[in-house]
Amino acid sequence: MVDLHHHLLPGLDDGSPNLETSIAMARIAADDGITHVVATPHANHVYSFDPGEIALRLDRLRSALASEAIPLTIAAGCDFHLSYDNIQDALAQPRKYTLNGGDYLLVELPDYGLSPNLDEAFYELGLAGMRPILTHPERNPTLQRDPKRLADWMRIGLLMQITTGSIVGKMGREAERMAHRMLADRWVHFLATDAHNTESRAPRMRAAHDLVAKKYGVEYADRLCTTNPMAAFEGRSLPPQEEPRHLYEDDPDLTRRWWQTFWKRRTSNPYN
Ligand SMILES: [Fe+2]
Repeated sequence: MVDLHHHLLPGLDDGSPNLETSIAMARIAADDGITHVVATPHANHVYSFDPGEIALRLDRLRSALASEAIPLTIAAGCDFHLSYDNIQDALAQPRKYTLNGGDYLLVELPDYGLSPNLDEAFYELGLAGMRPILTHPERNPTLQRDPKRLADWMRIGLLMQITTGSIVGKMGREAERMAHRMLADRWVHFLATDAHNTESRAPRMRAAHDLVAKKYGVEYADRLCTTNPMAAFEGRSLPPQEEPRHLYEDDPDLTRRWWQTFWKRRTSNPYN
């Protein structure tokens, strides 16, 4: 399995505090069946994002994993907070924040006060060659109350990552409910751990994978845990996905939206 969202690098954010913890997290991940991890430190108003420092710590951790014989391939990315300054910087330097230097960009929403301009931000990131992946929408209180915005973003081709802990009920009832609603409707493209430590937020995917396999089918579970994230890790396009369900139902503006999306894609094609 491939984990695209993991606060594995030591001493950069609220994830691993030191090399020993990073090694322990890597060992948990490898024992759980994870083969590849993108280490994604925060870039937000609390934690600055320094690619040089990240590269140094990544190298140091790679050497430590080799000497401990922990079979885990690691790369760098970012847990990219969708602020104005971050967006401007990413538009100027599209590969600075992306996963493993490819096209895919993890984007984290603010918990409250989702600006109406977010659609435009996703569009601009797409035009600059990035493929935004929305991180854990199932944990966002605003989206839990108003999932219609999520449907709008699905229609313009935004990719969705949900947290393994949400699926197995470790992130609260609302997150669990919304995660399963999205899974049942095939609105999810990636599972990831968003691991921060070895205890409460440990890097495990197996239990969530197996639950998804049991409830929604093994092919879907494998796609979310391995096929899709491996494509993103290697910077390739995703293989064809199952058609999302109930995306256009009970929507009086369906036709208008559909045509808007259609023409937007025809004229810009930012997500292909
Ligand atoms: Fe995160």
